[in-house]
Amino acid sequence: MSDDRLIVALDVPNALEGLQLAERLGDSVGFYKIGLGMLTGGGLALANELMQEHGKRIFLDMKLFDIGATIEAAVRGLAQFDLDFLTVHGDPHVVRAAREGASGRQTKILAVTILTSLDRADLDAGLIKTGDIPDLVAERAGRAFEAGADGVIASPQEAAMIRALPEAKGRLIVTPGVRPAGAALGDQKRVATPAQALNDGADHIVVGRPIWAAKDPAQAARDILSEINE
Ligand code: C5P
Repeated sequence: MSDDRLIVALDVPNALEGLQLAERLGDSVGFYKIGLGMLTGGGLALANELMQEHGKRIFLDMKLFDIGATIEAAVRGLAQFDLDFLTVHGDPHVVRAAREGASGRQTKILAVTILTSLDRADLDAGLIKTGDIPDLVAERAGRAFEAGADGVIASPQEAAMIRALPEAKGRLIVTPGVRPAGAALGDQKRVATPAQALNDGADHIVVGRPIWAAKDPAQAARDILSEINE
């Protein structure tokens, strides 16, 4: 049985490599994230194959942002695949349109608050209002929940703060930026260990490189699973 609190990011270039990795990971991993980097490499076909042939759950990380009508149409099309999670940016008009597009389907809409790669200087460059990033993240998460988001994507360091929001009751928190103790950080800056992220209120953790770039990905996944089950 897989422990679906762990979502493995299939950040490999194409569907064939994604499938090979999923086969190496076998039954211990039941939930995969497919992102924009694999869109032209057969990402949607891989999502379907993993769901239908292998019984896996899929998080499609598209981070959609557009006018409401386009978001609704895009989400309606994607939700037909019965994906588990789909990401959109957390602006209320985007979240409302995405919820509308997903109505009657099982796909849960997860809102991106502020990309974890951005710092205050980036927000200034993008003309985003003044304020500390954690405060803006909390405000955007609250508004996304009010607009109907089933959950949010957040850095593990923001998980506890979001979990404490009254609007977060019954909603999901999904955290990338997770590193087992001693693992290479790569470009992630605001990280926590898998156990810390879950203890702080995350429902799912997304782990990429510490698994797919490991010499033995299946062992790396098992190590994370045993850490979170200790
Ligand atoms: O390799 P690593 O564990 O850093 O991968 C994390 C995954 O989560 C990547 O697919 C990355 O695109 C995604 N992600 C992230 N930070 C966000 C949103 C998504 O790292 N804010």
